[in-house]
Amino acid sequence: MENLGILTALFFLFSSATSLHPSSQINLQNHCLDDQRSALLQLQHHLYYAPNFTFSSKLELWDPNTQCCSWKGVTCDALGHVIGIDLSYQNLSGSFYSIFNLHHLQRLNLAGNNFNTTLFQYGFGKLPNLTHLDLSASCFHDQIPVGISYLTRLVSLNLSYQDDCYWRNDQSSASLKLEKPNFKTLIKKMRSLRELYLDGVNISSQSSEWCEATSLSLPKLSVLSMSNCDLNGHFPAEFFLLPKMQRIDISDNSRLMGQLPEFPINNTLEIWSAKSCIS
Ligand SMILES: *[C@@H]1O[C@H](CO)[C@@H](O)[C@H](O)[C@H]1NC(C)=O
Ligand SMILES: *[C@@H]1O[C@H](CO)[C@@H](O)[C@H](O)[C@H]1NC(C)=O
Ligand SMILES: *[C@@H]1O[C@H](CO)[C@@H](O)[C@H](O)[C@H]1NC(C)=O
Ligand SMILES: *[C@@H]1O[C@H](CO)[C@@H](O)[C@H](O)[C@H]1NC(C)=O
Ligand SMILES: *[C@@H]1O[C@H](CO)[C@@H](O)[C@H](O)[C@H]1NC(C)=O
Ligand SMILES: *[C@@H]1O[C@H](CO)[C@@H](O)[C@H](O)[C@H]1NC(C)=O
Ligand SMILES: *[C@@H]1O[C@H](CO)[C@@H](O)[C@H](O)[C@H]1NC(C)=O
Repeated sequence: MENLGILTALFFLFSSATSLHPSSQINLQNHCLDDQRSALLQLQHHLYYAPNFTFSSKLELWDPNTQCCSWKGVTCDALGHVIGIDLSYQNLSGSFYSIFNLHHLQRLNLAGNNFNTTLFQYGFGKLPNLTHLDLSASCFHDQIPVGISYLTRLVSLNLSYQDDCYWRNDQSSASLKLEKPNFKTLIKKMRSLRELYLDGVNISSQSSEWCEATSLSLPKLSVLSMSNCDLNGHFPAEFFLLPKMQRIDISDNSRLMGQLPEFPINNTLEIWSAKSCIS
């Protein structure tokens, strides 16, 4: 009799556990967690729609009455953590500091906006799992902050063409520079990096240290785009022999000198070096 009681109790426990499980899964599916949702609403609150740098209205991209994982440009994982934000080419201005409360973020794309600010106020180090970061053509200027160098899981980094947004809007140009931290410090810990786009970033103060650093630190690099960076000094040929390298663009660096190596160069490697003194 006692045994039967235990069995019944066990059966009850088991069946209630299994009946709980599926329903909690349904609730979790694409469910936006409260803290993630409030970070996103805060983000929207601090962004403006500003075509041509004219602040025209508060952003009304997302409807607070709907599920935040379904919002445009937002991607969640199965547990409801925001892991992707794509707000590229939305004419945005204002502050995006709330993004740095989304600690699970893996992909962030804010390219093609009108931020016209520096990147100093943002805590990039708070997003340790970021793998893809695109801040290109968004009118960021001044020094690239050291926080970006803490993003050790980055696979792709694009900081190119900041002045493109001024050009679009017919304003005087501004650009990013890489001085302190310098190039070497920026990339030192990014051992997963495959694509690096720094076109138009002023790297003039580095002499040829930047290419030595690339070959030492970036074993997986396959695309390096550094056109119009005011690079100078000599360019070691070993650099072209990185095992995974597929495309190098060092065009429009009129003070850069060097020689293409004698082959074997992987014949799939594309090299763009016009207007640089590379022969
Ligand atoms: C943006 O600014 C440019 C230059 O000032 C102007 O020619 C253009 O008409 C503006 N566009 C809009 C949509 O306001
Ligand atoms: C951004 O602004 C430009 C005008 O400056 C306009 O042509 C374009 O459609 C706008 N894009 C969006 C997504 O609002
Ligand atoms: C970051 O990624 C690691 C490994 O994939 C994972 O264990 C950890 O939970 C992630 N952290 C956040 C905040 O998402
Ligand atoms: C960008 O910001 C600077 C001040 O930091 C200001 O002088 C300039 O007018 C701004 N440009 C535009 C197009 O808003
Ligand atoms: C990097 O940014 C530039 C400028 O916005 C863009 O043209 C290019 O496609 C971007 N590259 C990648 C791989 O996203
Ligand atoms: C890059 O920065 C250096 C030092 O800050 C400056 O002398 C140089 O003119 C800049 N280059 C360009 C193309 O703006
Ligand atoms: C040549 O490039 C291809 C494709 O980019 C790559 O898979 C291969 O490993 C490279 N071979 C050598 C010898 O570097």
